[in-house]
Amino acid sequence: MEITREFAESVIAAVKSCKSIMMDSFTVSEKDGASNLVTTADTAVQSRLRTLLGEILPQAGFLGEESPDVTALGNIYWVVDPIDGTSNFARGMQLSAISVGLVEDEEEIFGVVYNPYAEELFCAAKGQGAYLNGERIHVSERDFSHSLIFTAFSLYQKAYAPLCESALAELYPECDDFRRLGSAALELCALAAGRGELYFEIRIFPWDWAAAAVIIREAGGTIGTIDGERLRHDAPVLLLAANGDENFRTLKRTVQKHIPKLPYRA
Ligand code: IPD
Ligand code: CA
Ligand code: CA
Repeated sequence: MEITREFAESVIAAVKSCKSIMMDSFTVSEKDGASNLVTTADTAVQSRLRTLLGEILPQAGFLGEESPDVTALGNIYWVVDPIDGTSNFARGMQLSAISVGLVEDEEEIFGVVYNPYAEELFCAAKGQGAYLNGERIHVSERDFSHSLIFTAFSLYQKAYAPLCESALAELYPECDDFRRLGSAALELCALAAGRGELYFEIRIFPWDWAAAAVIIREAGGTIGTIDGERLRHDAPVLLLAANGDENFRTLKRTVQKHIPKLPYRA
């Protein structure tokens, strides 16, 4: 489908309208172990977005982190993380985002990532460029030795952490530094905006990256899987991203040495 300005603005308005929920009080509970949290704000934002996005595009399916169901999505569907960076959110860290992607025929065609604390809204539609608060953004031109790498150590499956640590141990002396922001969507958008250059995460779900994938591609970056398989929306993937093909290939080669095959079934 064609992403018109009017359509983009209505989705952006829906996303921004959820800020008040994030700024309100909330309670926290554990979803699956001490590191995997959910708050009443996560479920409230998801439910509001489900309603508003359903009004904007009634024919679209809905895949949201807090009730993931991939069985009846159809050929066009939303992929929503109501709060990416829930651990930051629960701790008052002010580094979290709402992430809304639109997928058509298995391809991400539109994405919005909104950080309500910094009032930064990243947005991209396939073929139309990537924007931060209405200004065009582009990945940086830094080479590998000057690059900042974003990564995480498999927070929800800590058995895989040593694989990530050994990959980072080889990458670290080869690049400038690394960061772990606690929100994959914001890390990927930071890469799109030229604030960082490399990203890898061993086990990440579609709601974490679907919106940001369009933003990275439209900003001139490269995003993909470790095995060259397509970015699927029905399972976690080992995700890599970089500010261009050359850095992507170098990153992938190094990560592959330490994680030659996925330690989980996709
Ligand atoms: C998490 C964050 C984190 C990443 C995890 C994600 P959540 O999302 O994006 O940075 O390392 O893999 O699950 O649980 O805060 O929505
Ligand atoms: Ca997430
Ligand atoms: Ca989340």
